[in-house]
Amino acid sequence: MTIKEAGERYNLQTGELSGQYASHSQKKLSQLAGVFADAEAFSAMDGEQPVYEVDAHMAVEEGTSGGLFFGTSTIHPGRVGNEYFMTKGHFHQKRETAEYYWGISGEGVLLLMDKNRRCTAEKVEKGSLHYIGGHIAHRLVNTGDTDLVVGACWPSDAGHDYGSIETAGFSIRVVCEDGKAVLRESR
Ligand code: F6R
Ligand code: ZN
Repeated sequence: MTIKEAGERYNLQTGELSGQYASHSQKKLSQLAGVFADAEAFSAMDGEQPVYEVDAHMAVEEGTSGGLFFGTSTIHPGRVGNEYFMTKGHFHQKRETAEYYWGISGEGVLLLMDKNRRCTAEKVEKGSLHYIGGHIAHRLVNTGDTDLVVGACWPSDAGHDYGSIETAGFSIRVVCEDGKAVLRESR
């Protein structure tokens, strides 16, 4: 028997993933219509602008019970009006499934919201570790001037439910006031 090279790679500095099971996707501003509060500022911006990228490592079929997925989310710096660039955010379709996030670089906020729309917020930075329990919606917000890079690991049968976030959003928004990131209640 021989020792095989691992074909799959994880760049510990950048979070970049490569190998047979790695894939890359990008969200442009035009794909985030209705996500940000300031519709006027949104419509004045270039819809082709990339807001975030996801590198995913999926070694099993989506929906496989007992498997894990691994990924890196990179949220670019920017704002729509005074609201920082952020991910769409989701509950897991299989509600009880949890997830780990960890900060790789940059500065941001992890918004967490339960089914009763109660929100908490955690600071994300290099070395921060975030356990997202089941039944909790999660969204990453980049509050810095550089890319916010965050690692993630979640069950391969978790699935994503964007529906309720698309219609009602999170109950808290992260906005820039006097040059600082602050939390504001949302309607
Ligand atoms: C997976 C997970 C992350 C997000 C990524 C993009 O369960 O939480 O990999 O999918 O940060 O965010 P969304 O999916 O909300 O567009
Ligand atoms: Zn998730």
